[in-house]
Amino acid sequence: KTRILTGITTSGTPHLGNYVGAIRPAIAASRADSAESFYFLADLHSLIKAQDPARTQRSTLEIAASWLACGLDPQRVWFYRQSDIPEISELTWFLTCVAGKGILNRAHAYKAAVDKNRADGEDDDAGITAGLFMYPVLMAADILIFNANRVPVGRDQIQHIEMARDFGQRFNHIYGHEYFALPEALVDDDAATLSGLDGRKMSKSYNNTIPLFAPREQLKKLVFSMLTDSRAPGEAKDREGSPLFQLYKVFASTEETAAFAQAYADGIGWGDAKQRVFEVVDREIAPLRECYDDLMTRPQEIEAILRDGARRLRERYAMPFIAELREAVGLRDLS
Ligand code: TYM
Repeated sequence: KTRILTGITTSGTPHLGNYVGAIRPAIAASRADSAESFYFLADLHSLIKAQDPARTQRSTLEIAASWLACGLDPQRVWFYRQSDIPEISELTWFLTCVAGKGILNRAHAYKAAVDKNRADGEDDDAGITAGLFMYPVLMAADILIFNANRVPVGRDQIQHIEMARDFGQRFNHIYGHEYFALPEALVDDDAATLSGLDGRKMSKSYNNTIPLFAPREQLKKLVFSMLTDSRAPGEAKDREGSPLFQLYKVFASTEETAAFAQAYADGIGWGDAKQRVFEVVDREIAPLRECYDDLMTRPQEIEAILRDGARRLRERYAMPFIAELREAVGLRDLS
């Protein structure tokens, strides 16, 4: 059986990039009978950037409610909080001891932080924590602990999944047995990198996001604030590199997209284009938003779902597997 797994870091409010890059494809994939799915809240990862306990808690609730509002069925899908599965942290150490430091040196997030220090004339590693450096190892443990083989993500995460393959393979090789299945990234080309308000990748760290469940009026305001060029109505518009066009495409049918492309060629005014984009996004999001707002009034229910998911999942997979791995590396069996 295919095992599909993905997570979202609990460091803010989920945005449209998370939705089209991870949540929507993951929920669609979980509906196939041939798949077993694992979707989780990466709260250990959130400690790397957001050292604000209240924010991590709030974000955990918001992201959990988002998954549920988007149709995740906790009876069909393993749905849990990363920190509720302590076996993930233990496996992180086992993998740390086989992971090549040179590989971690090449991780995008770490390299970007070093490059920024250099540009600012600081020491290479100024202000960089070991947590940021080790980020890909924790992520590999998330995936390998459940032997997931398909990981739906946006393009920015592909490198991490390749590293998970590498660490898993090294472990298998060193300990002489195929303990871990090797994961593959599942990337939807159209949604691989959704642009934000300013045309750069939509990202919490760029402050250019459209929150997934922004109230309708705010959604409209944000879509209307998206970057466009200065071409006047009547002038043909360029689809390539137009964040508005991309957003339309990921929410519209093929026919609608073809008609919108024609409107671009015919010189649609930016105001009209934005109205059409807003409508097609809101059409899909509105019913989910209603469900989300309702769930957010019942946080205890969400908490109970998460705890129950983690408890069952530990018993079913994480505890027996970590026992096997402890034995593999020569540690005492705790049971
Ligand atoms: P995170 O929380 O930054 O993002 C969650 C998911 O959303 C995707 N995404 C996007 N997709 C398209 N366009 C965008 N602008 C955009 N922005 C974000 C991300 O690619 C991701 O799929 N390290 C991960 C969380 C994680 C994880 C894992 C994922 C931890 N363990 C194991 C998969 C498997 C992260 O920080 O994603």
